[in-house]
Amino acid sequence: MSVETGTYSKGLEGIIADETTISRIDGQKGRLFYRGYPIEELARFSDFEEVTYLLLYEKLPRQAELEEWRKRMRASRDIPEQIRAMIHGFPAGAHPMQLLQSVAAYLSATVEHTIQHSATCNCRQTLHQVVQTTSVVATYQRFSEGKGYIAPRLDLSHGANFLFMLRGKEPEEYEGRIMDACLVLHAEHEFNASTFTARVVASTMSTCYCSISAAMGALFGSLHGGANEKVLDMVEEIGGAEKVGAWMDKAIAEKRKIMGMGHREYKVKDPRSYAMEGFLKELSEKKGNGRHYEILKEIEKQFRVRMEEKGKPLYPNVDFFSGAVYTLLGIPKILFTPIFAMARVSGWLAHILEQREHGNRIYRPESLYKGPAERPYEPLSQRG
Ligand code: COA
Repeated sequence: MSVETGTYSKGLEGIIADETTISRIDGQKGRLFYRGYPIEELARFSDFEEVTYLLLYEKLPRQAELEEWRKRMRASRDIPEQIRAMIHGFPAGAHPMQLLQSVAAYLSATVEHTIQHSATCNCRQTLHQVVQTTSVVATYQRFSEGKGYIAPRLDLSHGANFLFMLRGKEPEEYEGRIMDACLVLHAEHEFNASTFTARVVASTMSTCYCSISAAMGALFGSLHGGANEKVLDMVEEIGGAEKVGAWMDKAIAEKRKIMGMGHREYKVKDPRSYAMEGFLKELSEKKGNGRHYEILKEIEKQFRVRMEEKGKPLYPNVDFFSGAVYTLLGIPKILFTPIFAMARVSGWLAHILEQREHGNRIYRPESLYKGPAERPYEPLSQRG
Protein backbone atom coordinates (compact mmCIF):
# COMPACT_ATOMS: atom_id res chain seq x y z
CA MET A 1 0.00 0.00 0.00
CA SER A 2 1.49 3.32 -1.05
CA VAL A 3 1.70 6.30 1.26
CA GLU A 4 3.02 9.70 0.32
CA THR A 5 6.61 8.70 -0.33
CA GLY A 6 6.93 5.15 0.91
CA THR A 7 5.75 1.57 0.72
CA TYR A 8 3.94 0.03 3.67
CA SER A 9 4.96 -3.47 4.73
CA LYS A 10 4.04 -4.67 8.22
CA GLY A 11 7.18 -5.92 10.01
CA LEU A 12 9.16 -4.49 7.06
CA GLU A 13 8.72 -7.85 5.32
CA GLY A 14 10.18 -7.76 1.81
CA ILE A 15 11.81 -4.34 2.34
CA ILE A 16 15.51 -4.06 1.50
CA ALA A 17 16.87 -1.63 4.09
CA ASP A 18 20.55 -1.51 3.00
CA GLU A 19 23.29 -3.43 1.21
CA THR A 20 25.54 -5.84 3.12
CA THR A 21 28.56 -8.06 2.46
CA ILE A 22 28.48 -9.85 5.83
CA SER A 23 26.09 -12.75 5.41
CA ARG A 24 23.60 -14.17 2.93
CA ILE A 25 20.57 -16.34 3.50
CA ASP A 26 19.06 -18.46 0.73
CA GLY A 27 15.69 -19.14 2.32
CA GLN A 28 14.41 -21.34 -0.48
CA LYS A 29 17.38 -23.71 -0.41
CA GLY A 30 18.05 -23.41 3.33
CA ARG A 31 21.59 -22.09 3.01
CA LEU A 32 23.49 -19.56 5.12
CA PHE A 33 26.88 -18.03 4.30
CA TYR A 34 29.16 -15.74 6.34
CA ARG A 35 31.26 -13.65 3.93
CA GLY A 36 30.58 -16.32 1.28
CA TYR A 37 31.57 -19.35 3.39
CA PRO A 38 28.85 -21.98 4.07
CA ILE A 39 27.83 -22.12 7.73
CA GLU A 40 28.18 -25.92 7.82
CA GLU A 41 31.89 -25.66 6.96
CA LEU A 42 32.53 -22.84 9.42
CA ALA A 43 30.82 -24.80 12.22
CA ARG A 44 32.91 -27.87 11.38
CA PHE A 45 36.35 -26.49 10.60
CA SER A 46 36.51 -23.03 12.22
CA ASP A 47 35.91 -21.71 15.71
CA PHE A 48 34.23 -18.67 17.23
CA GLU A 49 37.37 -16.54 17.43
CA GLU A 50 38.26 -17.20 13.80
CA VAL A 51 34.68 -16.52 12.70
CA THR A 52 34.71 -13.25 14.64
CA TYR A 53 37.84 -12.27 12.69
CA LEU A 54 36.11 -13.25 9.43
CA LEU A 55 33.05 -11.14 10.27
CA LEU A 56 35.08 -8.08 11.25
CA TYR A 57 37.89 -8.23 8.68
CA GLU A 58 35.97 -9.70 5.71
CA LYS A 59 38.46 -12.58 5.19
CA LEU A 60 39.73 -15.69 6.96
CA PRO A 61 42.97 -14.96 8.85
CA ARG A 62 46.35 -16.43 7.95
CA GLN A 63 48.13 -18.44 10.69
CA ALA A 64 50.09 -15.50 12.20
CA GLU A 65 47.04 -13.21 12.02
CA LEU A 66 44.92 -15.81 13.77
CA GLU A 67 47.45 -16.32 16.55
CA GLU A 68 47.72 -12.59 17.14
CA TRP A 69 43.93 -12.27 17.05
CA ARG A 70 43.40 -15.06 19.57
CA LYS A 71 45.85 -13.35 21.95
CA ARG A 72 43.96 -10.07 21.61
CA MET A 73 40.55 -11.59 22.18
CA ARG A 74 41.72 -13.69 25.13
CA ALA A 75 43.39 -10.67 26.76
CA SER A 76 39.90 -9.20 27.29
CA ARG A 77 38.44 -12.26 29.04
CA ASP A 78 39.06 -11.25 32.66
CA ILE A 79 36.24 -9.06 34.00
CA PRO A 80 37.24 -5.76 35.66
CA GLU A 81 36.34 -5.32 39.31
CA GLN A 82 33.72 -2.63 38.48
CA ILE A 83 31.80 -5.03 36.27
CA ARG A 84 32.03 -7.83 38.84
CA ALA A 85 30.54 -5.42 41.41
CA MET A 86 27.79 -4.56 38.95
CA ILE A 87 26.92 -8.24 38.50
CA HIS A 88 26.87 -8.69 42.28
CA GLY A 89 24.64 -5.67 42.76
CA PHE A 90 22.13 -6.47 40.04
CA PRO A 91 18.65 -7.05 41.51
CA ALA A 92 17.99 -10.73 42.27
CA GLY A 93 15.29 -12.03 39.97
CA ALA A 94 16.22 -9.74 37.06
CA HIS A 95 16.85 -11.58 33.80
CA PRO A 96 20.52 -11.81 32.75
CA MET A 97 19.60 -10.19 29.42
CA GLN A 98 18.75 -7.05 31.42
CA LEU A 99 22.16 -7.32 33.04
CA LEU A 100 23.90 -7.74 29.67
CA GLN A 101 22.07 -4.76 28.24
CA SER A 102 23.19 -2.66 31.21
CA VAL A 103 26.79 -3.95 31.13
CA ALA A 104 27.13 -3.15 27.42
CA ALA A 105 26.01 0.44 28.01
CA TYR A 106 28.19 0.71 31.13
CA LEU A 107 31.27 -0.44 29.19
CA SER A 108 30.64 2.49 26.87
CA ALA A 109 31.57 4.83 29.69
CA THR A 110 34.46 2.85 31.17
CA VAL A 111 36.44 1.47 28.24
CA GLU A 112 39.01 3.72 26.65
CA HIS A 113 37.42 4.49 23.34
CA THR A 114 38.53 7.98 22.57
CA ILE A 115 36.97 8.50 19.15
CA GLN A 116 33.73 6.82 19.99
CA HIS A 117 31.52 9.41 18.35
CA SER A 118 33.40 9.45 15.09
CA ALA A 119 32.62 7.57 11.92
CA THR A 120 36.27 6.49 11.88
CA CYS A 121 36.10 4.82 15.31
CA ASN A 122 37.84 1.49 15.04
CA CYS A 123 35.77 -0.80 17.23
CA ARG A 124 37.84 -3.72 16.02
CA GLN A 125 40.44 -2.71 18.62
CA THR A 126 38.02 -2.77 21.55
CA LEU A 127 36.88 -6.33 21.69
CA HIS A 128 35.61 -6.08 25.27
CA GLN A 129 32.05 -5.89 24.06
CA VAL A 130 32.41 -9.25 22.30
CA VAL A 131 34.61 -11.13 24.76
CA GLN A 132 33.24 -9.82 28.03
CA THR A 133 29.66 -10.69 27.18
CA THR A 134 30.69 -14.34 27.58
CA SER A 135 32.59 -13.78 30.82
CA VAL A 136 29.68 -11.78 32.26
CA VAL A 137 27.16 -14.53 31.47
CA ALA A 138 29.29 -17.20 33.19
CA THR A 139 29.94 -14.94 36.19
CA TYR A 140 26.28 -13.96 36.51
CA GLN A 141 25.43 -17.64 36.89
CA ARG A 142 28.24 -18.30 39.39
CA PHE A 143 27.17 -15.35 41.56
CA SER A 144 23.48 -16.24 41.39
CA GLU A 145 24.38 -19.71 42.72
CA GLY A 146 26.34 -18.06 45.55
CA LYS A 147 29.68 -19.19 44.09
CA GLY A 148 32.86 -17.20 43.48
CA TYR A 149 34.37 -15.70 40.35
CA ILE A 150 36.40 -18.05 38.16
CA ALA A 151 39.27 -16.34 36.35
CA PRO A 152 39.39 -17.27 32.65
CA ARG A 153 41.76 -19.81 31.12
CA LEU A 154 43.66 -18.38 28.16
CA ASP A 155 44.56 -21.75 26.63
CA LEU A 156 40.94 -22.76 25.96
CA SER A 157 38.69 -21.90 23.00
CA HIS A 158 36.05 -19.23 23.55
CA GLY A 159 33.31 -21.84 24.02
CA ALA A 160 35.37 -24.16 26.25
CA ASN A 161 36.45 -21.21 28.42
CA PHE A 162 32.79 -20.25 28.88
CA LEU A 163 32.04 -23.73 30.28
CA PHE A 164 35.17 -23.50 32.43
CA MET A 165 34.18 -20.11 33.89
CA LEU A 166 30.69 -21.46 34.51
CA ARG A 167 31.69 -24.74 36.15
CA GLY A 168 35.12 -23.99 37.59
CA LYS A 169 36.22 -27.26 35.97
CA GLU A 170 37.64 -27.93 32.53
CA PRO A 171 34.97 -29.35 30.19
CA GLU A 172 35.44 -32.51 28.16
CA GLU A 173 36.97 -31.91 24.70
CA TYR A 174 33.65 -32.65 22.91
CA GLU A 175 31.71 -30.32 25.22
CA GLY A 176 34.06 -27.40 24.52
CA ARG A 177 34.01 -28.11 20.77
CA ILE A 178 30.19 -28.26 20.65
CA MET A 179 29.79 -25.12 22.78
CA ASP A 180 32.15 -23.21 20.51
CA ALA A 181 30.41 -24.45 17.35
CA CYS A 182 27.03 -23.32 18.79
CA LEU A 183 28.51 -19.82 19.04
CA VAL A 184 29.65 -20.03 15.40
CA LEU A 185 26.13 -21.01 14.32
CA HIS A 186 24.58 -18.05 16.14
CA ALA A 187 27.20 -15.40 15.31
CA GLU A 188 25.48 -13.74 12.38
CA HIS A 189 22.17 -13.74 10.54
CA GLU A 190 21.76 -10.74 8.26
CA PHE A 191 19.08 -8.11 9.02
CA ASN A 192 17.20 -9.83 11.87
CA ALA A 193 15.44 -7.70 14.50
CA SER A 194 18.39 -7.28 16.89
CA THR A 195 20.96 -6.64 14.14
CA PHE A 196 18.66 -4.11 12.52
CA THR A 197 18.30 -2.46 15.94
CA ALA A 198 22.11 -2.28 16.25
CA ARG A 199 22.34 -0.71 12.79
CA VAL A 200 19.60 1.84 13.53
CA VAL A 201 21.39 3.00 16.69
CA ALA A 202 24.80 2.98 14.93
CA SER A 203 23.31 5.08 12.12
CA THR A 204 22.83 7.92 14.61
CA MET A 205 26.62 7.81 15.34
CA SER A 206 26.03 6.49 18.83
CA THR A 207 28.78 4.26 20.31
CA CYS A 208 29.15 0.62 19.34
CA TYR A 209 28.47 -0.25 22.99
CA CYS A 210 25.15 1.61 23.02
CA SER A 211 24.22 0.00 19.70
CA ILE A 212 24.99 -3.43 21.16
CA SER A 213 23.05 -2.62 24.32
CA ALA A 214 19.97 -1.79 22.23
CA ALA A 215 20.41 -4.97 20.20
CA MET A 216 20.48 -6.97 23.46
CA GLY A 217 17.05 -5.50 24.29
CA ALA A 218 15.68 -6.64 20.92
CA LEU A 219 17.14 -10.12 21.32
CA PHE A 220 15.45 -10.56 24.72
CA GLY A 221 11.98 -10.95 23.17
CA SER A 222 10.42 -14.42 22.89
CA LEU A 223 9.86 -14.15 19.12
CA HIS A 224 13.60 -13.68 18.65
CA GLY A 225 16.23 -14.89 21.13
CA GLY A 226 13.82 -16.18 23.75
CA ALA A 227 12.34 -18.98 21.65
CA ASN A 228 14.68 -21.79 22.74
CA GLU A 229 13.69 -21.32 26.40
CA LYS A 230 10.09 -21.77 25.30
CA VAL A 231 10.99 -24.91 23.30
CA LEU A 232 12.36 -26.47 26.45
CA ASP A 233 9.21 -25.48 28.38
CA MET A 234 7.24 -27.28 25.67
CA VAL A 235 9.40 -30.43 25.94
CA GLU A 236 8.96 -30.42 29.72
CA GLU A 237 5.21 -29.86 29.40
CA ILE A 238 4.86 -32.80 26.97
CA GLY A 239 7.03 -35.11 29.08
CA GLY A 240 7.50 -38.05 26.66
CA ALA A 241 7.63 -38.87 22.92
CA GLU A 242 4.47 -41.00 23.18
CA LYS A 243 2.47 -37.98 24.38
CA VAL A 244 3.40 -35.68 21.47
CA GLY A 245 0.47 -36.60 19.17
CA ALA A 246 -2.30 -35.75 21.64
CA TRP A 247 -0.45 -32.64 22.85
CA MET A 248 0.03 -31.42 19.28
CA ASP A 249 -3.65 -31.88 18.34
CA LYS A 250 -4.66 -29.79 21.35
CA ALA A 251 -2.02 -27.11 20.71
CA ILE A 252 -3.06 -26.73 17.07
CA ALA A 253 -6.76 -26.62 18.01
CA GLU A 254 -5.93 -23.84 20.49
CA LYS A 255 -3.94 -22.04 17.74
CA ARG A 256 -0.79 -22.10 19.87
CA LYS A 257 2.50 -21.38 18.16
CA ILE A 258 4.92 -24.28 18.28
CA MET A 259 8.14 -22.69 19.46
CA GLY A 260 11.30 -23.32 17.44
CA MET A 261 9.23 -23.78 14.28
CA GLY A 262 8.93 -21.40 11.36
CA HIS A 263 11.11 -18.60 10.11
CA ARG A 264 10.56 -15.38 8.19
CA GLU A 265 13.39 -16.19 5.75
CA TYR A 266 13.73 -19.99 5.60
CA LYS A 267 11.07 -21.85 3.67
CA VAL A 268 12.77 -25.20 4.42
CA LYS A 269 14.63 -26.50 7.50
CA ASP A 270 17.09 -23.94 8.84
CA PRO A 271 20.65 -25.13 8.02
CA ARG A 272 21.75 -24.30 11.58
CA SER A 273 19.06 -26.62 12.85
CA TYR A 274 20.68 -29.60 11.06
CA ALA A 275 23.99 -28.83 12.79
CA MET A 276 22.29 -28.38 16.19
CA GLU A 277 20.46 -31.66 15.73
CA GLY A 278 23.81 -33.39 15.10
CA PHE A 279 25.25 -31.92 18.30
CA LEU A 280 22.18 -32.99 20.29
CA LYS A 281 22.49 -36.54 18.95
CA GLU A 282 26.21 -36.65 19.83
CA LEU A 283 25.63 -35.31 23.34
CA SER A 284 22.67 -37.64 23.92
CA GLU A 285 24.85 -40.63 23.05
CA LYS A 286 27.87 -39.47 25.04
CA LYS A 287 25.77 -38.70 28.10
CA GLY A 288 23.40 -41.66 27.71
CA ASN A 289 20.32 -39.43 27.79
CA GLY A 290 18.23 -39.35 24.62
CA ARG A 291 14.97 -38.08 26.13
CA HIS A 292 15.06 -34.55 24.70
CA TYR A 293 16.21 -35.80 21.30
CA GLU A 294 13.35 -38.30 21.05
CA ILE A 295 10.66 -35.80 22.07
CA LEU A 296 11.97 -33.11 19.71
CA LYS A 297 12.21 -35.47 16.73
CA GLU A 298 8.63 -36.59 17.39
CA ILE A 299 7.43 -32.95 17.60
CA GLU A 300 9.22 -32.19 14.32
CA LYS A 301 7.61 -35.19 12.60
CA GLN A 302 4.09 -34.64 13.90
CA PHE A 303 4.11 -30.89 13.28
CA ARG A 304 5.35 -31.38 9.73
CA VAL A 305 2.53 -33.86 8.95
CA ARG A 306 -0.14 -31.56 10.34
CA MET A 307 1.16 -28.41 8.64
CA GLU A 308 1.59 -30.20 5.30
CA GLU A 309 -2.05 -31.30 5.55
CA LYS A 310 -2.94 -27.61 5.94
CA GLY A 311 -0.74 -26.75 2.93
CA LYS A 312 1.43 -24.54 5.19
CA PRO A 313 4.65 -26.47 5.86
CA LEU A 314 6.84 -25.07 8.62
CA TYR A 315 10.21 -26.45 9.67
CA PRO A 316 12.57 -26.23 12.67
CA ASN A 317 14.65 -23.10 13.11
CA VAL A 318 17.95 -22.83 14.99
CA ASP A 319 16.18 -22.61 18.35
CA PHE A 320 14.41 -25.94 18.05
CA PHE A 321 17.34 -28.12 19.17
CA SER A 322 19.65 -25.56 20.80
CA GLY A 323 17.94 -25.48 24.22
CA ALA A 324 18.28 -29.25 24.56
CA VAL A 325 21.96 -29.05 23.54
CA TYR A 326 22.61 -26.47 26.27
CA THR A 327 20.66 -28.54 28.82
CA LEU A 328 22.87 -31.55 28.14
CA LEU A 329 25.89 -29.27 28.60
CA GLY A 330 24.53 -28.54 32.09
CA ILE A 331 23.53 -24.96 31.28
CA PRO A 332 20.40 -23.60 32.99
CA LYS A 333 17.50 -22.30 30.85
CA ILE A 334 17.91 -18.72 32.04
CA LEU A 335 21.23 -18.55 30.12
CA PHE A 336 19.88 -19.61 26.72
CA THR A 337 19.14 -16.13 25.38
CA PRO A 338 22.37 -14.72 26.91
CA ILE A 339 24.30 -17.44 25.03
CA PHE A 340 22.65 -16.26 21.82
CA ALA A 341 23.85 -12.73 22.71
CA MET A 342 27.41 -14.01 23.44
CA ALA A 343 27.56 -15.22 19.85
CA ARG A 344 25.55 -12.60 17.98
CA VAL A 345 27.57 -9.74 19.46
CA SER A 346 30.22 -10.53 16.79
CA GLY A 347 27.68 -10.13 14.01
CA TRP A 348 26.28 -6.96 15.59
CA LEU A 349 29.73 -5.42 15.69
CA ALA A 350 30.37 -6.32 12.04
CA HIS A 351 27.08 -4.65 11.09
CA ILE A 352 27.78 -1.57 13.20
CA LEU A 353 31.11 -1.15 11.37
CA GLU A 354 29.53 -1.76 7.99
CA GLN A 355 26.75 0.72 8.76
CA ARG A 356 29.28 3.43 9.59
CA GLU A 357 31.93 2.66 7.02
CA HIS A 358 29.79 2.11 3.93
CA GLY A 359 27.99 5.37 3.38
CA ASN A 360 26.06 5.78 6.62
CA ARG A 361 22.63 7.34 6.43
CA ILE A 362 20.46 7.70 9.54
CA TYR A 363 17.39 5.41 9.55
CA ARG A 364 14.15 7.32 9.47
CA PRO A 365 11.18 5.39 8.02
CA GLU A 366 7.69 6.86 7.73
CA SER A 367 4.45 5.79 9.36
CA LEU A 368 0.93 5.54 8.05
CA TYR A 369 -1.14 7.81 10.31
CA LYS A 370 -4.50 6.31 11.38
CA GLY A 371 -5.37 8.68 14.25
CA PRO A 372 -7.96 11.46 14.48
CA ALA A 373 -8.09 14.29 11.94
CA GLU A 374 -7.16 17.82 13.08
CA ARG A 375 -9.45 18.97 15.90
CA PRO A 376 -9.68 21.94 18.30
CA TYR A 377 -7.81 21.75 21.60
CA GLU A 378 -10.17 21.29 24.60
CA PRO A 379 -9.31 23.33 27.72
CA LEU A 380 -9.14 21.12 30.87
CA SER A 381 -12.34 22.61 32.35
CA GLN A 382 -14.36 21.65 29.26
CA ARG A 383 -13.31 18.00 28.98
CA GLY A 384 -16.24 15.72 29.75
N1 COA B 1 3.60 -22.59 15.06
C1 COA B 1 2.38 -22.55 14.49
N2 COA B 1 2.05 -21.73 13.48
C2 COA B 1 3.00 -20.90 13.04
C3 COA B 1 4.30 -20.87 13.58
C4 COA B 1 4.59 -21.76 14.62
N3 COA B 1 5.80 -21.79 15.18
N4 COA B 1 5.04 -19.95 12.93
C5 COA B 1 4.24 -19.40 12.03
N5 COA B 1 3.01 -19.97 12.09
C6 COA B 1 1.85 -19.65 11.26
C7 COA B 1 1.20 -18.37 11.79
O1 COA B 1 0.19 -18.66 12.75
C8 COA B 1 0.64 -17.76 10.52
O2 COA B 1 -0.55 -18.45 10.19
P1 COA B 1 -1.80 -17.67 9.51
O3 COA B 1 -1.28 -17.25 8.16
O4 COA B 1 -2.86 -18.72 9.47
O5 COA B 1 -2.09 -16.53 10.42
C9 COA B 1 1.70 -18.10 9.47
O6 COA B 1 2.32 -19.31 9.96
C10 COA B 1 2.74 -17.00 9.30
O7 COA B 1 3.31 -16.73 10.57
P2 COA B 1 3.89 -15.34 11.05
O8 COA B 1 3.99 -15.32 12.54
O9 COA B 1 3.10 -14.24 10.41
O10 COA B 1 5.32 -15.39 10.39
P3 COA B 1 6.47 -14.37 10.64
O11 COA B 1 7.35 -14.45 9.46
O12 COA B 1 5.93 -13.03 11.02
O13 COA B 1 7.19 -14.92 11.95
C11 COA B 1 8.42 -16.31 13.36
C12 COA B 1 8.29 -15.76 11.94
C13 COA B 1 9.77 -17.02 13.51
C14 COA B 1 8.37 -15.16 14.38
C15 COA B 1 7.26 -17.30 13.61
O14 COA B 1 7.37 -18.42 12.73
C16 COA B 1 7.22 -17.76 15.04
O15 COA B 1 6.60 -17.09 15.88
N6 COA B 1 7.83 -18.94 15.37
C17 COA B 1 7.90 -19.40 16.74
C18 COA B 1 8.94 -18.59 17.52
C19 COA B 1 10.35 -18.97 17.15
O16 COA B 1 10.69 -20.14 17.04
N7 COA B 1 11.21 -17.94 16.98
C20 COA B 1 12.62 -18.14 16.70
C21 COA B 1 12.97 -17.63 15.34
S1 COA B 1 14.64 -18.05 14.89
